[in-house]
Amino acid sequence: MSVLKGKNVLLGISGGIAAYKTASLVRLLIKAGAHVQVVMTPASVDFVTPLTLSTLSKNPVFSTFYNKEDENATWNNHVELALWADFMLIAPATANTLSKMASGACDNLLLATYLSAKCSVYFAPAMDLDMYIHPTTIMNFETLKGFGNTIIPAESGELASGLSGEGRMAEPENILQFIEKDIESKLPLKGKKVLVTAGPTYEAIDPVRFIGNHSTGKMGYDIALEAANLGAEVVLVSGPTHMQLQHSLVSIIRVTSADEMFAACHHYFENTDVVIAAAAVADYKPKNIASQKIKKDEATFTIELEKNQDILLSLGQIKKNQFLIGFALETENEIENAKSKIQKKNLDIIVLNSLNDEGAGFGKPTNKVTFIDKEFNIFDIPLKSKELVAEDIVNLIVKKYAN
Ligand code: CTP
Repeated sequence: MSVLKGKNVLLGISGGIAAYKTASLVRLLIKAGAHVQVVMTPASVDFVTPLTLSTLSKNPVFSTFYNKEDENATWNNHVELALWADFMLIAPATANTLSKMASGACDNLLLATYLSAKCSVYFAPAMDLDMYIHPTTIMNFETLKGFGNTIIPAESGELASGLSGEGRMAEPENILQFIEKDIESKLPLKGKKVLVTAGPTYEAIDPVRFIGNHSTGKMGYDIALEAANLGAEVVLVSGPTHMQLQHSLVSIIRVTSADEMFAACHHYFENTDVVIAAAAVADYKPKNIASQKIKKDEATFTIELEKNQDILLSLGQIKKNQFLIGFALETENEIENAKSKIQKKNLDIIVLNSLNDEGAGFGKPTNKVTFIDKEFNIFDIPLKSKELVAEDIVNLIVKKYAN
């Protein structure tokens, strides 16, 4: 999945022949899952039509502050556009537009939007080879880089003038790759290894029966996805569940019993930075597993259970620098019980689920949690979807650990 998925991208097009390539650029951005809005300089509409770009981006395209031919026209708000964007991409960026960006000139909608933008800005220059190496162009590149903007270098090849050399706007595929790599390299959990446990465990009684619970695994899977979206390499140790997750940074290790989950977690623990134990591990397992299916011969039937090992507690006992997050499901004395679990299991944060809250718990799409850190600071989180709770948990890791 591309890091561009869900991103708001503001594409600024200035008037160079490479503008014709922006149709493919918009398509690629949309295909990667981005939302795209386009602003154009008045000169650029001679090279590519707003109709093409609005059709591909599925959004209106703006090239003037207002439409002179429409007497009911309203002001095209450059400030709103700039605030909407997660990042702005100016491609092609002509020598003229670059020089105006560098000097703060503001005589068209694209430039006004650029000046209002607080998000990151990429620019992909496009010009003839001698213009590309002119001292003023180079000075403008340096000025713009000094403002924190990122240049996507031009490529070499045949130019519109008939000359051949450096100055061609980077190909749309390369622009996309450049931005994806740049965003990935800045993700807050880049280089961190995260271990997540999820789902129930099944404890065998005989070859066909088990003791289990209603956990769907959703909370753990959402956390794994969110951590991967922020750049972490995630090992997701999952009990039996129908949940699926495909992400290049997530490896799923499927286990059945608590003993298997224990072994898998200890296998990965040493090379792990952060553990989030969201699994609903069975506390007990049958002491003896019948080798054949048990027959219903007796009027009553008793299964002797023994305690499962507490995976999180065992990790807390051997942890070095790892950051440990556990869950707690309490029905009474919630805060006090959760605090004592932090100490008992040597945790950094506990996520307290309360069964007293409507909308929280097994099988529900929402959760109502309270975070408690090891200094016993308490953060009450309002009822929200499990995806958003996962975001909050991972953001807390970024704040408390990865910063
Ligand atoms: N956990 C675990 N291994 C177990 C049991 C629990 O790793 N065998 C983890 C869970 O994934 C969760 C946390 O420990 O993150 C809290 O588990 P919970 O069942 O609420 O608490 P317990 O310590 O089992 O205490 P009790 O049920 O007695 O309240």
